[in-house]
Parts: sequence; structure tokens; C-alpha cells
Amino acid sequence: MSTVALIPAAGRGERLGMGLPKAFVDLAGQSMLHHCVQGVLSSGVVDRVVISVPVDLVDQVRSEFPESTVVAGGSNRSDSVKAALLAAPSDSEVVLVHDAARCLTPASLFADVVDAVRSGASAVVPALPVVDTIKSVDPTGIVTGTVDRASLRAVQTPQGFDYSVLKAAYAAAATDFTDDAGLIESQGIDVQTIPGDPMAFKITTAWDLNLATWLLTDRAHA
Ligand code: C5P
Repeated sequence: MSTVALIPAAGRGERLGMGLPKAFVDLAGQSMLHHCVQGVLSSGVVDRVVISVPVDLVDQVRSEFPESTVVAGGSNRSDSVKAALLAAPSDSEVVLVHDAARCLTPASLFADVVDAVRSGASAVVPALPVVDTIKSVDPTGIVTGTVDRASLRAVQTPQGFDYSVLKAAYAAAATDFTDDAGLIESQGIDVQTIPGDPMAFKITTAWDLNLATWLLTDRAHA
């Protein structure tokens, strides 16, 4: 069963504030994208990788990853995923969509997601329970309520899909979603959760980047 991994890496990364697209920020001597592609390939469960990047970086990334397909991303994440999906082999059976910013994701999580899709789920997301108490607030910051966290989950990537289900969902999509499972849910298709992994955290802020650097370097020498 052939599996393709789509890596949306075309975000501008403004919240990280490093002055260059997030996936190209250095993390312990390599770009986040490099760590991410290494992680995907070392999982051993992916046959093909398609990366979407800012249009001005397509040539550079093609020469860095000659074994991968590299396409120009769009102005939002959904457009970047859609561009990668259009470039995926049409005989793919399982699709993983994996944020470049979750570049420390362990190999076992890729395998678990692929296994769940192969076992019959149309859409699979790794998810972690929410540990903090969650409050809703009004525009002035006054708390308006406490949300019951028991049924809440923080979802990660890789998210896994039956190729034909994701392809049809994107063909019918009329709006943007912050993750691909959201698109699938909006079309009334069940999304299965499996246990996530703390190491699949998304690097969004300078704090996250410091944590990832520590996990890759200082910790290894401790
Ligand atoms: O901004 P955020 O961290 O939510 O982005 C998640 C992933 O989507 C990142 O890997 C980012 O590069 C990617 N993305 C993209 N194209 C965009 C916006 C985000 O590929 N236009």
C-alpha cells in the first residue's frame, strides 16, 4: 500500500519572529524542514514525500531534497496542502499530512497513524488530553466561563487519510481549515483519534524553538 507524506512548509512564521519562513529557521545546525524530512523518511512507512514551500524557495529546496517533489505553497495552510496533494502520485493509498514545524515527531507516531488508516479509518489524528484548565474570556480579558476539558483534545500531525477521501474533500472544500481533519469533519466523515506524542509539539514561538534546541543538543550531552 503506497503512502505519501505531504509537508506544508510555506508558512511565513511571523509568530516565531526570526525574519525568515519558519521551516527554514536553523535548529541545532539544520533547518526545521531538514529535521522534518529526515524524521518522515526514517519512519520507514513513507514511499514518497511532497513538500510545499514559499514560491521563491522552490528551486533551493528541490536541490536540497532531490528525492522529494517540491511545489509552491499558497497563502494559507489549506492552499499549501492542496498544492502538495495535487502533486502526489495518483495511485497513492494513504496520505499523511505533517507540519514542517513538528520536526521532532518520533518515527513510531508515523507508523501508528499509517496503521490506523490501513485498518480502515478514513481519517486519523494523533491527540493529547488537555491538561490545563481552559477558560473562555471576553474581549477585555474577563473570564466568562470554565470549559469542561474532559472531552477536549489537542491534535497534532501527522494526520493520516485515505487518499481518495482527502482528494475528494479538497475538491469540494469551500473554505480554509487550520488542519486537514477539520475539513474532513466538515463533510460529516468520522475522524479517529489515536494517542499523540509530546515530541510531536509544534514549534510556534521562540520558547518552542529553545525547547527543541535543548531536546536535540544539551539533553544529548547531559
Ligand atoms: O502557522 P502554523 O504554525 O499553524 O503552520 C502550520 C504548518 O503549515 C507549518 O509547517 C507551516 O509552514 C505550514 N503553512 C504552509 N502554508 C501557509 C501557512 C502555513 O505550508 N500559507
